[in-house]
Amino acid sequence: MSRVFIVLALTFASLTAPAAAQAPFGDHPVPLNDGLTHMGVASCSTAGCHGDQVSGVGAGPVVGQNEYFQWASRGEKGAHSRAYEVLLTPHGKRIAANLGVGRAEAAPECLSCHADAAPNKTARFQISDGVGCEACHGGAQEWLAFHRIGAGHEANIEAGLYPTEDPAARARLCMGCHLGSSFENQFVNHRIMGAGHPRLKFELDLYTTIQQHHVVDDDYRTRKTVAPGAQVWAVGQAMGLERTLELLLDNDTGSAGAFPELVFFDCHACHQPISEGDGQLSWRPNPGRALGPGAPILNDANLIMLQAAMRVVDPAIAERLDSEGRVLHAASQHSGDHFHNAARTLKGTANEAVARILGSDLSSPSAARAMLVQVTDAKFAKRYTNYAAAEQALFAVQRLTAAMNADNAAMRAAIEKASRAAQSPYAYNQNAFTAALADIGAMAGG
Ligand code: HEC
Ligand code: HEC
Ligand code: HEC
Ligand code: HEC
Repeated sequence: MSRVFIVLALTFASLTAPAAAQAPFGDHPVPLNDGLTHMGVASCSTAGCHGDQVSGVGAGPVVGQNEYFQWASRGEKGAHSRAYEVLLTPHGKRIAANLGVGRAEAAPECLSCHADAAPNKTARFQISDGVGCEACHGGAQEWLAFHRIGAGHEANIEAGLYPTEDPAARARLCMGCHLGSSFENQFVNHRIMGAGHPRLKFELDLYTTIQQHHVVDDDYRTRKTVAPGAQVWAVGQAMGLERTLELLLDNDTGSAGAFPELVFFDCHACHQPISEGDGQLSWRPNPGRALGPGAPILNDANLIMLQAAMRVVDPAIAERLDSEGRVLHAASQHSGDHFHNAARTLKGTANEAVARILGSDLSSPSAARAMLVQVTDAKFAKRYTNYAAAEQALFAVQRLTAAMNADNAAMRAAIEKASRAAQSPYAYNQNAFTAALADIGAMAGG
């Protein structure tokens, strides 16, 4: 930062650092609902700003300044810049046609997640930019000029910049589109899935890493607090469970006519080939729920992962998650009050878990290690009967080994073995998966 910037930063900070800046980031309204004017990607992407050709390798004095190029890239990092574009593909068109919602690229049912659907926009704003900068960083009108001259992070946030570095705020942001929310149309129900929409899956720490377009250097660390990977992973699980139960309890999203909304249930428990006398039976008992064969199964992947995390953070909460989860599974076979009460109880516990995770120091490699030992524990792995649980366990293994700096050839080989066993929902092999996890756990020191 140049000297001029520091002087300005101090001026702004002293002018605009009222007590409200102390409010927990978790209360910050998400960009979709921030009430601010969204100005469009073109307002961010100019040379000298976040589309700096000269420092196209990310060599800006404070931030890289090449963020636009990463967001717009054709690779995995650039998925958000293509979110609108996919609505125009044969796949997108087909989903919209099956639903009868008209053109996908004009349907609120789709744009709520495939673009920046905030209501207030300038003329320069292009909906075709898809999930643009302000869909995550917040409407820029109040801080666009101001943040360029080094107002300082607190002051920017005060002016409406979204605190994306805060793990709880980030979880709320990403989950809106990657899990769903109670904002109008921001939900993919089983009807939309049935029309051909891909299954949604999400893990906060992994997905943050995949789309990462910023550099964490010394300068970044002086400006922002970097949440440790184990904490990001755990809070993502807790908030995922809480959000799912919130949607399940919501009148608009919780049911589909007389039926419970199927999207909360494990997809592959229903969508499996039926054995035609070839001995390919897939049902297995699961120690986390007292349900016999043939029952629809609530997707409990977040619940299982959260339990693994809480065994480290707060074992008493882990115990409660276990017993309340069993009650919910049993109640899920009946509609009505009993089911809703069970969901409400578990939601309260998930909320307590969020607070405990955020209040704990999970920065040491040993915290990540302890969680990994739980996730890979052979007894615990008996609960990975369903593909969705195995998928989350695999994400966990990847992110927790990264958090404990356990990247070596033997560990990579064991993770590769686990990925192969859970490569596809239709060829998921729980025994092979459990064996690979046991190797990982042993290497981690379990
Ligand atoms: C709750 C948010 C949400 C809503 C509503 C939504 N989508 Fe999506 N959609 C997503 C997410 C997230 C993905 C990416 C899934 C992944 O890869 O994990 C996706 C993926 C897709 C894909 C696959 C893209 C690809 O790269 O293969 C298509 C096509 C699609 N959506 C079309 C639609 C259409 C059409 C609608 C409206 C009927 C719609 N979506 C509504 C969130 C949503
Ligand atoms: C899907 C959400 C999302 C989108 C879209 C997005 N970002 Fe980000 N951005 C993040 C997250 C998460 C971080 C990392 C946490 C942080 O530093 O706030 C980040 C970090 C940054 C940083 C680093 C800030 C620093 O302090 O070093 C800049 C600059 C940035 N983004 C600019 C942009 C620009 C410009 C665009 C559009 C071209 C964009 N982002 C699009 C989520 C997003
Ligand atoms: C406004 C909705 C929206 C928000 C907010 C959002 N996403 Fe997305 N995200 C999408 C859509 C839609 C896609 C699929 C786009 C496509 O297929 O090209 C997607 C794709 C992705 C992908 C690529 C997935 C894949 O299978 O390749 C990652 C990673 C991702 N998002 C991470 C995040 C993270 C992390 C956050 C929060 C910081 C976030 N997203 C916030 C809508 C959103
Ligand atoms: C309780 C059982 C059940 C669960 C759980 C379930 N589905 Fe379905 N699904 C069905 C039924 C029944 C149909 C309708 C089949 C038909 O129309 O022929 C269907 C249809 C579909 C279709 C259309 C199939 C086709 O041939 O075009 C898709 C795609 C789909 N579901 C995806 C999902 C996803 C993704 C999930 C999880 C989020 C899920 N389902 C959860 C029972 C279920």
